Amino acid sequence: MEQIARDPRADFLAVYNRSIGRNGKAALLYWLENDTDFFTAPASSKNHLAQPGGLAVHSLNVWRRLREIAVRDMTDRNEPGVRQLSEADEETVAVLGLLHDVCKVGVYHQETKRRRNPETKQWEDCLGYTFRDPFPLGHGEKSLFLITRHMALTEEEALAIRWHMGAYDDAVKGGSRSMTEAMNLTPWVWRLQEADMCAAWIDERSAAE
Ligand SMILES: [Fe+2]
Ligand SMILES: [Fe+2]
Repeated sequence: MEQIARDPRADFLAVYNRSIGRNGKAALLYWLENDTDFFTAPASSKNHLAQPGGLAVHSLNVWRRLREIAVRDMTDRNEPGVRQLSEADEETVAVLGLLHDVCKVGVYHQETKRRRNPETKQWEDCLGYTFRDPFPLGHGEKSLFLITRHMALTEEEALAIRWHMGAYDDAVKGGSRSMTEAMNLTPWVWRLQEADMCAAWIDERSAAE
């Protein structure tokens, strides 16, 4: 599997334009390109892909993983072979993979930090990211809000994006059972969680080593 896209913005646009065909896609893309830092933002402040462009790379990694997971789940055990996804499923895979972390726009601020060089033991300046959310609506909740201002989602897509943090979601940590109920309604909830974990813990971890 290709770990790092050569030109993540171009690859993102290619998948977005090829796979998504619904009303509002142009308005959403215009907003992402002109009013946000989506294509220059990192994927995290210090864990996976904490580098410019990291968010676009992560979104592509999740799209790629989700596509493989969907093919796996939809393959009939009695008819092994590579299954083709329907146009509607290709669209859902692209929407979920490429857009699930839109909530991360505008939250990672590049700042000069002080760190102790482990070799020289001297304190020095270095560039790093600080997380500061000017619109703290919640993680999956904010992605939903920002996407649907421009483009409609199906109910299954809305459930998957809302609950994509899985066990790390604040409501789940507080004892909510709604995620379990969402999983009962659509397999896209756990598929997106699995794809997100594979991207962050396999693709992006090995890419950093
Ligand atoms: Fe996320
Ligand atoms: Fe993610």
